[in-house]
Amino acid sequence: MNVLAELLAERTGLWFGAHNIDLLERGLVQLGTTLGQSPQALLERLRTDDPKSELWQKLVESVTVGETYLFRHPEQLALLSQRLVPERLVKGQRSLRAWSAGCATGEEAYSLAMVLHKAAPGCEVSVLGTDISQQALAVAARGKYGPNSQREPIPSAVRSLLLYHSEGSVEVVPQVRAQVELRPVNLVDEEQLQTVPGGFDFIFCRNVLIYFTKAHSQRVLRALRDRLQPGGVLVLTALDQREQVEGLMPQVLDGVPILRRMDAVKHTPTPRALPALPALPAKPLRLLSAHAEDIRQRAAEVKAAADQGDLHRASHLARRLLVAERTPEALHLLALILGEQGRHSEAEQLLTEALAVNPQYVQGHLSLGLLERPPHQKWRSAEHLHTVISLLAQRRDDELLHGPEPVQVAMARRLASAGLANLERRS
Ligand SMILES: C[S@@+](CC[C@H](N)C(=O)[O-])C[C@H]1O[C@@H](n2cnc3c(N)ncnc32)[C@H](O)[C@@H]1O
Repeated sequence: MNVLAELLAERTGLWFGAHNIDLLERGLVQLGTTLGQSPQALLERLRTDDPKSELWQKLVESVTVGETYLFRHPEQLALLSQRLVPERLVKGQRSLRAWSAGCATGEEAYSLAMVLHKAAPGCEVSVLGTDISQQALAVAARGKYGPNSQREPIPSAVRSLLLYHSEGSVEVVPQVRAQVELRPVNLVDEEQLQTVPGGFDFIFCRNVLIYFTKAHSQRVLRALRDRLQPGGVLVLTALDQREQVEGLMPQVLDGVPILRRMDAVKHTPTPRALPALPALPAKPLRLLSAHAEDIRQRAAEVKAAADQGDLHRASHLARRLLVAERTPEALHLLALILGEQGRHSEAEQLLTEALAVNPQYVQGHLSLGLLERPPHQKWRSAEHLHTVISLLAQRRDDELLHGPEPVQVAMARRLASAGLANLERRS
């Protein structure tokens, strides 16, 4: 493993493998340029510096990805307002506490606060937003967001909680901002974690564990579990690395996977028996775009190299494309080549990143759903295949789905159903 990657894994828990090592290398060069030091000199300093030093903080800032937006994963927020909050109110609870762990620039923390504010009128609501990146938290503190943070439609129920500015930005109203506390916490630093009290009703830790080593991911999951109230709910995404953690029970409510702190599992009604409630508006699927055309041309070059048996050149071309643009399609393309080379876990990481960029990237879910996995992780494949089917529910059979190569909706449906049947047979 790259020496810096090894240092980072050991001291921060951040995990850079062949699938994303270029992010790390780029971050190191950028930091060196800012500080006027060669990457080698920086590496030497990092070896001896305390991981809490300013230099380490700067490195972490330059290699972590703070991709986020308001009302991301709307189906999870719909579940929160329509099932999880009422569940607590029925028990007579009059205050609700949530933690957005790894909140980046704050969109997730404010989205939670707005949803809770509306779903539990008259209740005392508080949301803690934490992140390792102080730069990101400084942006969060402003509570003002441009178009890039407004990729999901703002649900009509919460529109009154935002101020709309003429240049297209939105600002969270002071009343909601007062319900959100922001502060730096490195989730793999025991000492910092100790500063976070327990007793949360809901913890959202989405698209964060994907950057951790398996061991750190486990440790963080246990720390999150311990900070939930009995019956409290932890929400991750399908992409976050997850091994089973004692005391956290996986459940699927209205088609949305959650983890519930064990104590109250036996009191929860069977989720599948309940009718699906209307979700917040979901983003429409993007079909073939001009960008996908370009990817297709480059994909043809990569494929030509692969067809000639030159996987080395194919992966080189695919990596060059990635440097130019880290789109889901480009990530997927390299994943296919690595898969051909038998490097399945790196391929999985790339696909995972593709879905972190666009959670509705159907071909990515399909590939992840069809990956070979050990029996105890089959639920992951099933989750991705179910996602394919639900994302395609309203699509016409002959529509084309973008990706390294276009795939017809009918074909994607068939592959997902066959994959699920196969999982069923082997269970
Ligand atoms: C892709 S963003 C996800 C933001 C938000 N949760 C969402 O899903 O929209 C990942 C965030 O995790 C943060 N992060 C990475 N490692 C962390 C750590 N060890 N402790 C706390 N935050 C961390 C990064 O700084 C980044 O802001």
